[in-house]
Amino acid sequence: MTYTIPAYAKLNLTLDILRRRDDGYHDLDMVMQTVSLHDTVTLTCGTGTGDIVVHSDCGTLPNDARNIAYRAADCFFQQTQILCDGVDIHIAKRIPMEAGMAGGSADGAAVLRGLRTHYAPQMSMETLAEIGALVGSDVPFCVHGGTMLAQGRGEILSPLPSLPHCHICVCKPGFGLSTPALFGRVKPETFAENPSGLAMEQGLKTGDLRLISQEMTNAFETLLAPEEALEIFAIQKTMAQAGALGAMMTGSGPTVFGLFVTQTQAQQAQSLLKNGTRFVCLTTPV
Ligand code: C5P
Repeated sequence: MTYTIPAYAKLNLTLDILRRRDDGYHDLDMVMQTVSLHDTVTLTCGTGTGDIVVHSDCGTLPNDARNIAYRAADCFFQQTQILCDGVDIHIAKRIPMEAGMAGGSADGAAVLRGLRTHYAPQMSMETLAEIGALVGSDVPFCVHGGTMLAQGRGEILSPLPSLPHCHICVCKPGFGLSTPALFGRVKPETFAENPSGLAMEQGLKTGDLRLISQEMTNAFETLLAPEEALEIFAIQKTMAQAGALGAMMTGSGPTVFGLFVTQTQAQQAQSLLKNGTRFVCLTTPV
């Protein structure tokens, strides 16, 4: 049986870091939004081999336990104690890697959703998200999707009103940033006492894109090295020139996204930002 599952990317409308925890992780307060940019996971269950096999159309994506999609499948069978009768996972990669868009977590979540459909349709999405939390901090959000306040490590989720329809330009500079490396730069002065999630929730309730854009934040923007900041702030400036109501880095970066009222404005940002090294695309909230 073969399933074709979209694995949607996410953007952070807000990201505040509250404290460092004893387990080495950080307590976060983030407003996350699913967007239409997606990988496509093709999952074939019951291949008869008893193995989990991962392959992709992307040469740099590992096919072993370093790939979240593999770990998600492995974790699903371990946690449910269902015998693995052979699973083949193909990933058509579109979401850029090391981008702050949860591309790996989205693939892992898509695998979990497909495995639930095939092997455990009675399992609740909450239980599936709990399995996801064992695989990675962003996986529970990707299991549910939509617009959510994510707290704790990222696994405590509360639904929020959706981001209103808008046009989003996404631009990843020619370099990636590793999430653990960025968390390694966190200092006590990075910690927020009054996270922006509450103000963003109010903004989302109004449905006013201008208000929402004013409330966008990302604590990681204060932790960039000078050469990283130069490129990221230049992208934000270009987005603003093209008419973005707000432009912010997503997650641990380095991707910047801008929110636009019209498609023409977003397209203008796209054409201004395109160069030989950046990944630039247009997307919409899902
Ligand atoms: O959970 P995940 O494997 O995606 O996290 C990757 C790394 O990001 C962790 O090893 C940790 O260094 C950092 N992290 C953190 N606090 C979080 C989430 C991630 O410090 N809430």
